[in-house]
Amino acid sequence: MVLQADRTSEGFPSDLLLDLPSSSGRGLRERLEHSLRAAIQEGRLVPGTTLPPTRALAAQLAISRSVVVEAYRNLAADGYLEARQGSGTRVRSAPRPPGRRARRSLGPVVFLDRPRDVSPAGVPRIRLTGGLPDPALFPRARWLRHYRAALTELPDPGLTYPSIGGAGALRRALTAYLGRVRGVATTEDRVVVCNGFTQGLTLICRALRREGARRMAVEDPCFALHREGIARAGLEPVPVPVDDDGLDVDALARTDVSAVLVAPAHSYPTGGTLTPPRRAALIAWARENDAVVIEDDYDAEFRYDRLPVGALQGLAPDNVVHVGGISKTLSPAMRLGWACLPPCLVESVEREKRYDDLGSPLLEQLAFARFLEHGDFARHLRRVRPVYRARRDATIAALTELLPQVRWQGAAAGLHLFVCLPDGTDLRKLGEAAHARGLTIEDAAWHYAEPSAAPPAIVLGYGGLPEPMLRRGVAILADALAGA
Ligand SMILES: Cc1ncc(COP(=O)(O)O)c(C=O)c1O
Repeated sequence: MVLQADRTSEGFPSDLLLDLPSSSGRGLRERLEHSLRAAIQEGRLVPGTTLPPTRALAAQLAISRSVVVEAYRNLAADGYLEARQGSGTRVRSAPRPPGRRARRSLGPVVFLDRPRDVSPAGVPRIRLTGGLPDPALFPRARWLRHYRAALTELPDPGLTYPSIGGAGALRRALTAYLGRVRGVATTEDRVVVCNGFTQGLTLICRALRREGARRMAVEDPCFALHREGIARAGLEPVPVPVDDDGLDVDALARTDVSAVLVAPAHSYPTGGTLTPPRRAALIAWARENDAVVIEDDYDAEFRYDRLPVGALQGLAPDNVVHVGGISKTLSPAMRLGWACLPPCLVESVEREKRYDDLGSPLLEQLAFARFLEHGDFARHLRRVRPVYRARRDATIAALTELLPQVRWQGAAAGLHLFVCLPDGTDLRKLGEAAHARGLTIEDAAWHYAEPSAAPPAIVLGYGGLPEPMLRRGVAILADALAGA
């Protein structure tokens, strides 16, 4: 059913065309959300557009107002809409992140191992590393409730080896969630639950290796452990540069690879987003070369200043594997992730999984399935997103004030900033000076294929610290930089 919302008495747009297909098998709220999300993603509802008030839209569509309220709330939580006091609900606009400046190439730097996490006596150590969530924000009570219920509901025969690809309940819940929020086009039998992104990547690499693949392109820089994991799985990682627009697809096309690992929504650690022309070019390359694209969707739930970028997988489900997990949203302690695979890879990845561990822990899977289905995941994200946004803003404010000589990238999303230091900065000396002052920093060089050629930069994780600590950390960094 296609519903056209008329002009309301309040004067809101009359051209809000919503397609709520009644045969889709989804509930009304889901269909409304889907329709609004599609309109935003396709650019039919442009940033800043004010949506009709919930009461008016409900009346026009002849549906309950609570359905519209819930749909608006979920889309706001997912970053598509924003509610402004007194001025209604709008499609979120995408301003440039504050303080973002153009990137330029930087000089060579000495590689520094990750510093040890030891505090000088009596000084609390501040870690501004990586990009992890705050463990204090883990929703313990709700998780416990779902875990308890999962165990209570599971009949005795269920307490055995889990299904290799994952519990049916979780695969179903993930299929619905990822389709709704990330635009992933999959079915539950194509979802393989794994122990975090890292296991998913390893299993896929091994499956591809068995099918004859020898080389896999990786972004340069990319998360160092992934590059190393690809090599350990028997594939040669081939570095391809990334810039503010994400992976350089022209450079990719000049390589001789049959697969590529890419983080299109938020390249790690530099933070670029693959632009629409490059997304199209990447998909065309994959189709032409019958290649596999592994999409690392590690922090898509945290977006602050820009419209959500849908998953690449939704555009080419037969070439793209969508891999995600809950390490950034809930906790890396859970070791829970998923891979949404093209049909041709399901069996081979499940076979690798079988020989790896005979399946992921069942009770965690069932608890997470409940967590998703009862709306607690969405609730959790609604609760923590503003916290992380405030921490990011506090970090940027401190950098602006205390370190005017540095630039940063990747602020629009995630839990970290990529901070470019002045040319010629000696990272080893800086790391030691910071360490002596009670601050641990992370040299970005280890994420580069050739660390000795990396620009002087650090990966500044702000997710795990309250704002005063972040400011204090930046102040120490400024002092250490002056000292080094
Ligand atoms: C780029 C990137 N992808 C994925 C992950 C998540 O990995 P896992 O799910 O194995 O914890 C991380 C974690 O730090 C990461 O930095």
